[in-house]
Amino acid sequence: MRVHHKMHEWRVTRTGNNFAGKSVGFVPTMGALHEGHHQLLKRARAENERVVLSIFVNPAQFNDPNDLVKYPRSLEADLALASGLVDDVIVPEAAEMYPDKYRYRVTENELSTVLEGAHRPGHFDGVLTVVLKLLNLVQPHRAYFGEKDWQQLQLVDGMVRALLLPVEIVHCETVRDPDGLAMSSRNRRLSSAGRAHAVKFPQILRAASTTADAVRLLQVAGFTVDYVEERDGVRLGAVHLEGVRLIDNVRR
Ligand code: PAF
Repeated sequence: MRVHHKMHEWRVTRTGNNFAGKSVGFVPTMGALHEGHHQLLKRARAENERVVLSIFVNPAQFNDPNDLVKYPRSLEADLALASGLVDDVIVPEAAEMYPDKYRYRVTENELSTVLEGAHRPGHFDGVLTVVLKLLNLVQPHRAYFGEKDWQQLQLVDGMVRALLLPVEIVHCETVRDPDGLAMSSRNRRLSSAGRAHAVKFPQILRAASTTADAVRLLQVAGFTVDYVEERDGVRLGAVHLEGVRLIDNVRR
């Protein structure tokens, strides 16, 4: 497994013999890898001849500067989890990703303004912009995204269609801990009592008969609720617990 910190060097590898004529699978991440990412990597490994992982904590998608500072960083553990599944890891620096200081960006004007977008202004501009840059750097045949970030996945799909990008976006099912909590890098910021309590979030999201009921039951259970809404047969929610923001979705 090769690790690339300099993108001009990575480009030389990408256009070299190692990749010539090979199918390329790509898993974009912000690091702090967990079993959910592991499943994405395993699927990419099974379906492609080359697998590329990116680890980049993208400043442009953090509307809350405090959240960016607190975002877990664990490069060594991430590389250990990836080894054996990944051929190349790119770990770009912000200066190389944003030579324009983010003057140029991708904006979507409908879906990105509701749900997560209503609570995190600018978040999806940051996501779409960095995903486009990463796709340009990696030039994969397939890119793998988890369904936990349902809205992100719809927006990436839409961008690929809108901008005629030559890549297949592969949707991968949310991976859950045995008790049902969706895996997330943010879970590790919960206390052990908070972590045990957090499972009520997917339970209530699934069991409540209406979205209004879900909001009420979540509040009674001690969560601060940003939203619970239904869209395209999916019930989506975002809550805060112990200052940690959790999102999830279940099919209806
Ligand atoms: O889902 C994520 O981890 C990020 O939003 C992504 C797609 C890697 C872009 O920074």
